[in-house]
Amino acid sequence: MEKQKFYITTPIYYPSDKLHIGHTYCTVATDVLARYHRLLGEDVMFLTGTDEHGQKIGDIAAAAGVTPQEFVDRIVEGPRGIKDLWKLMNISNDRFIRTTDNYHVQSVQRIFKKMHDNGDIYKGTYKGKYCKPCESFWTESQLVDGKCPDCGREVQDAEEEAYFFRLSKYADKIRDLLENTDFLEPRSRVHEMVRNFIDPGLEDLCVSRTSFSWGVPVDFDPGHVVYVWVDALSNYITALGYENDRYHDYEKGWWPGVNIVGKEIVRFHSIIWPAMLMSLGEPVPKKCFGHGWLLLDGGKMSKSKGNVVDPYILAEQFGVDALRFFLMRTFPFGSDGNFSNELLIQTINTDLANDLGNLVSRTTAMVGKYFGGTLPAGCGTWAEEVSFDKELKDLAGSLRERYAAEMDHFAPHKALEEVFKVIQRANKYIDENTPWTLAKDMEANGPRLAHVLYNLLEAARICGVLLVPFMPESMDKLFAQIGADESSRTWDSAARWGGLSETAAVSKGENLFPRVDMDKALEELEAAKQAESGVELEPQLAEKVDFDTFCKSDFRVVKVKACEAVKKSEKLLKFTLDDGTGVDRQILSGIHKWYEPEDLVGKTLVAIVNLPPRKMMGQESNGMLISAVHKEKGEEVLHLLMVDDGIPAGAKLC
Ligand code: MSP
Repeated sequence: MEKQKFYITTPIYYPSDKLHIGHTYCTVATDVLARYHRLLGEDVMFLTGTDEHGQKIGDIAAAAGVTPQEFVDRIVEGPRGIKDLWKLMNISNDRFIRTTDNYHVQSVQRIFKKMHDNGDIYKGTYKGKYCKPCESFWTESQLVDGKCPDCGREVQDAEEEAYFFRLSKYADKIRDLLENTDFLEPRSRVHEMVRNFIDPGLEDLCVSRTSFSWGVPVDFDPGHVVYVWVDALSNYITALGYENDRYHDYEKGWWPGVNIVGKEIVRFHSIIWPAMLMSLGEPVPKKCFGHGWLLLDGGKMSKSKGNVVDPYILAEQFGVDALRFFLMRTFPFGSDGNFSNELLIQTINTDLANDLGNLVSRTTAMVGKYFGGTLPAGCGTWAEEVSFDKELKDLAGSLRERYAAEMDHFAPHKALEEVFKVIQRANKYIDENTPWTLAKDMEANGPRLAHVLYNLLEAARICGVLLVPFMPESMDKLFAQIGADESSRTWDSAARWGGLSETAAVSKGENLFPRVDMDKALEELEAAKQAESGVELEPQLAEKVDFDTFCKSDFRVVKVKACEAVKKSEKLLKFTLDDGTGVDRQILSGIHKWYEPEDLVGKTLVAIVNLPPRKMMGQESNGMLISAVHKEKGEEVLHLLMVDDGIPAGAKLC
C-alpha cells in the first residue's frame, strides 16, 4: 500500500538580515512535526525557503551598495547565512525554494496571468496607504491610530496604476472556510481574522506595483511587478511543480499541505492565499496553524530594536538538541512566550541534565556495574509485580497514545509534558527500588535487580523513540547506550512494553546532557555576543584605587578654540583650549585617524589638566583629552568624550 503523503511548510523567510531565535522557533517547530510524521511512517515532504523580492529588500541592498541579487545570495547562501543556520539546527527540509529561482518566477507569471484571464485580476488605480517594512497595503479604515495595524509603524500615501485581485468576491467562501471548518488553528485566530478582516468587509487587493522593479515582472504589462505576497504565497505550489517543469509533485497527492506560520502572517495565509487558490480552481491547504511569538522583555524581537537573540551563539554554546528541545518544551505552541537565557539554562538543567540525563546515566551505569553491561535473559518478566512496577509500565506503555493525541493537535509542548511525566515516574522508581541496596545481596536479589533495571531501560527507550523528532542526534546516542536496535526504535515499538531485548548490550557512554553552570554560561554568552558583533572591550581592572588618589586627578571641561594637524605627524592634532582660567591651554592628542581638526572646533570636551607637561614632535602638551575606546573587528575605535555645550569651560568633574 502506498504510504500516506504529508506536505508541511514553513513561511519562506525574508533574507533582509540574519535570522534570530524567533525565526528558528518557527522552523524547528515545523521540523519537529515533519519528523513526527516520518516516525509515523508517512511519506513526508518538508519545504522551507526564502522570500527574496520586494521594495524592502531592494532598498536594503541599495543602502549596502550591492545589487538585490548579490545581497540575497549572500544572506541565503553565504557563511552563517540562512541555509547554514538550518543545517546547523538539523532541519530536515526536503526542498528549499528561493523566490528568485527561475522556475518560480515563471510560475508566478503564469499564476498571475491565469487569475487575470479568468477575470479575478483587473486594472485600476491604487490610492491608499502602504507599510514598507511589512510590504502591506492598507485602507484608511484598517489603520490603527493612523499607523500600520501589524507593526505600528508609519505608513506612506501611495497612488499608482495597479492591478487588483477580486478578494471581495471570495468573502463568503472565506468566512465559511474559517468559521465552519477546522482549516485555521488555534481557534482564537479564527475569531481574530473574522472580527478584524471579514466582518468589516473584504476589499479587493492591490497586487502589482510600478514604483520599483525588484520583483516578478508582470509579463503581459511591462513596468508592473507582482505584489510580493502573491509571489511569496505561490511558493507552496510552485515548489511542487505547479505551472512549471522543474518538479512534478503537485498532482501526485502532495497537495494540499499544512502551513505553519507565525501569528502576524495568518491574515495572508488564511484569507488571501485560500482566495487565490479558489480563483485558480485549486484546493485550499489542509491546515494553517498560526503559532505565537517569542518575545524578549515582553516585546517582539527585531533588528531595529537591537534585541535579537542569535541562534548560532545559543546552539554553539548549549548544543543544537538542547536548543531545539527548549523551544518546544517551554512555549505553548499557539501562544506568545518570553525568551530568556536563564530560562533556557534552567530547562536544560532540570529536564535534560537532571531528569532525562540522570535516568539514562544512572541506569546504564548500574547495568554496567552490577551485570557487566548485559542483563540476564528472562529479566523482562517478574511474577510478583508490585504496584510501582505496574504503574511505571502502564504509564510508559500508554504514553504513545497520549503523545500522538497532542502532536496531532499541534501541541508539541503538551506531548513533551507527557513524555516527562514518564521520565519523572522512572526516576521515582529508582528511589522506590533502591537498586544499590538490592545489589548488596546479588544472590538473593540479583533477579529482582535485573528486572528493575530492565524496566528503567525500557521506560527510557519508549521516551527516547518519542523524543526523536525533538532531539534526533541525542536520541541516537541514547539508543546506542541502552542497546536499542533498529526494531526497538520504531513508532510501533513505542506502543509495546518489552520492545527492548532483555540481553541488549548496555554501555554508559558520554553524558547526554551535561549540567550548565548558570553564571559561567551567562558570562560566556555575553562574551560570544560581543565577539559576534565584533566589539571587544578592555577588561575592567581588578586593582582598586583609593579615593584620595583618584581625587588627585583634575578633570575639567574644556572648549576647543582651535585645532590643527601637527606638521610631519600622521597622528597628532594640536588643540588650543579654553579651560576657564583665561589662559589658553595647549594639548596634543594622537587622534587624527578618527577626527579631522576642523570638525572639532567649538566642541566641549573633557581633559585631565594636572599631568606633567610632555614634549611631542617638539611641541609641549599640557594634559590629555579623555576618550572612550574599544575594538571592533580587531580595529581600535576611539570617541572623544563630548559633553553638553551648556557646561562652562573649567567646570570640574567629580
Ligand atoms: N516572508 C514572509 C513570509 C512569506 S510566506 C509565503 C515573512 N518572513 S519573516 O522572515 O519575516 O518571518 C518568517 C517567520 O518567522 C514567520 O512565520 C514569522 O512569524 C516568524 N517569526 C519572526 N519573528 C518571530 C518571533 N519573534 N517569534 C516567533 N516567530 C517569529 O513573514
